[in-house]
Amino acid sequence: MSGKRTFTMIKPDAVQNGHIGAILHDITQAGFKIAAMKYTRLTTERAGEFYAVHKERPFYQELVSYMSSGTIVAAVLEKENAVTSFRDLIGATDPQKADEGTIRKKYATSISANAIHGSDSDENAAIESSFFFSQLEMFA
Ligand code: CMP
Repeated sequence: MSGKRTFTMIKPDAVQNGHIGAILHDITQAGFKIAAMKYTRLTTERAGEFYAVHKERPFYQELVSYMSSGTIVAAVLEKENAVTSFRDLIGATDPQKADEGTIRKKYATSISANAIHGSDSDENAAIESSFFFSQLEMFA
């Protein structure tokens, strides 16, 4: 059975370009409830840890330095089939390949500065949520 929760980050480019409000509007309009939310910043060490799964990829260093370059919004979202439904809402990793109307199509600037993150599985949604939030914060 698919889970009811996913994890997201509004990335530094979207925060700097003033898109937090519009993106949260799109998310709530699509039927997601916000279970937890934080305006925060990753150190390079924490960004490296979060993206450790991509350590061997050629874009890893760029990704880590970009994700620690400015403030982000981290959030846990709730909806039926949350992971799949949210990935549909945000669109393809590369904004040039993202469908019209998706968050990345509307707000992303490049494949690395792609506006928003969405977990790729229920398991990773749980791991990523606990990276930013305590159990108490998520069930407040
Ligand atoms: P996200 O899916 O949130 O998590 C992994 C990130 O790596 C992805 O978003 C992109 O921002 C980034 N990424 C993936 N592929 C590339 C690439 N080819 N070049 C640069 N960044 C990438």
